[in-house]
Amino acid sequence: MKKKILSVAILGVGSRGGNAYGSEMHKQSDKFKITAICDVNKEKLKHYGELLQVDEANRFDSEDTFFAERRADALIICTFDNMHADECVRAFELGYDVLLEKPVASKREDCLRIIEAQEKYGRRATVCHVLRYSPIYEKVDELIQDGKIGRLVHIEASEPVNYWHFSHSFVRGNSGSTERAAPMLISKCCHDLDLIAHYAGAECDSVSSIGALSFFTPLNAPDGSADRCVDCKLIDDCPYSAKKLYIERWHRLGAPINSWPTAMLATAPITEEKLLSAIEKGPYGRCVFRCGNNACDNQTMHMSFKNGVKASFCVTAFNEDASRRYIFHGTYGAIELTADAVTLREYGKEPVIYPVSDMVKVGGEHGGGDVRLIYSFYRELMGEEKSPTALENSMEGYLIAAAAEESRMCGGISVRVRNEE
Ligand SMILES: NC(=O)c1ccc[n+]([C@@H]2O[C@H](COP(=O)([O-])OP(=O)(O)OC[C@H]3O[C@@H](n4cnc5c(N)ncnc54)[C@H](O)[C@@H]3O)[C@@H](O)[C@H]2O)c1
Repeated sequence: MKKKILSVAILGVGSRGGNAYGSEMHKQSDKFKITAICDVNKEKLKHYGELLQVDEANRFDSEDTFFAERRADALIICTFDNMHADECVRAFELGYDVLLEKPVASKREDCLRIIEAQEKYGRRATVCHVLRYSPIYEKVDELIQDGKIGRLVHIEASEPVNYWHFSHSFVRGNSGSTERAAPMLISKCCHDLDLIAHYAGAECDSVSSIGALSFFTPLNAPDGSADRCVDCKLIDDCPYSAKKLYIERWHRLGAPINSWPTAMLATAPITEEKLLSAIEKGPYGRCVFRCGNNACDNQTMHMSFKNGVKASFCVTAFNEDASRRYIFHGTYGAIELTADAVTLREYGKEPVIYPVSDMVKVGGEHGGGDVRLIYSFYRELMGEEKSPTALENSMEGYLIAAAAEESRMCGGISVRVRNEE
């Protein structure tokens, strides 16, 4: 049977909308046709308009014009964090099904508003919690569901973001300030909280959290440092120097014509000249101690779930290696998840190792999660399967994060996730 080709529109053709999803959907031309794009950045609009073969009449630089009418079967929302809620509600009103980039929203009220709109207009939405689609995380799910570790008692999870990624996204970049982005715990760790809630397998009861912005502030600026790296005497010494992170590192990677994070400084084909111009003039060339940022650079939390499962989670900017590390402690065994492998340790038996390289068969970011999410979104819209990250099943992590932020602001007190007796 001939497959239906879904028409899709993309709101925000940046790193995620244009590069991760737009480019992949354009490749999967037997399933998707990109019919309209919208971005306030005219350079990106032109670049992705040409790359994704969207005609000029369907490239919009204003959200209001774009939303004047429905332009496709589905809408991909990939703008800044704090815009997602309003845009998603507008999309449902127009009758779109939605692929919604994480985070769903920064505030509990916004999450509830989106869910209400979805129910009211009867639309489908999938949240881009891409890790849930990676075979690595699916393997953990399978081992827990098969009872290999007995009863799950505790999840120990950590996300060392790594120093250059953190300074790129949460100091210099879009997510540095809660004016445009969700708090760091939501913006960066909604993946982890979604995974933890999913594996715990019950609603979360209570949460406590402590955390702070401890380093990337003017007080920690080295003596004699300047507002921009290009004017700074420490340009060749500071590990956070924009020259080191965006130009030298790009060269070490073989000067790719289009790869993250340099794709956020310049459109493809990326050149040294474009990168230099971006760090001379743009946000990514600012001194990391003078960006007016307020995102926490370290945070820890404890969670208690209604079925008795407990979890602890730690996120930090301060590490070289960016790999998530999870241990699932059960009554008859434990599972360790690292960048290289999932290891099953049934007590008293030899460990069984599942190498990541054997599990991940498709390319792309997030252990194949980006590409497999797109396959799943297509099947969801064809009515062939329920998306694992359907909007209505993706809210627990956000409720946990909202309670954790409340706890952090109150010095780490225990906060109930739901207002119930
Ligand atoms: N799923 C993941 O793993 C993952 C990874 C990184 C980022 N994200 C999320 O994806 C979203 C986009 O991040 P990104 O890295 O692509 O950022 P980006 O800056 O590369 O892209 C955002 C785009 O939105 C555009 N935009 C801003 N306001 C707009 C408006 N009013 N109308 C139309 N376009 C507008 C910007 O010009 C930009 O091109 C964020 O919410 C981020 O948290 C998700």
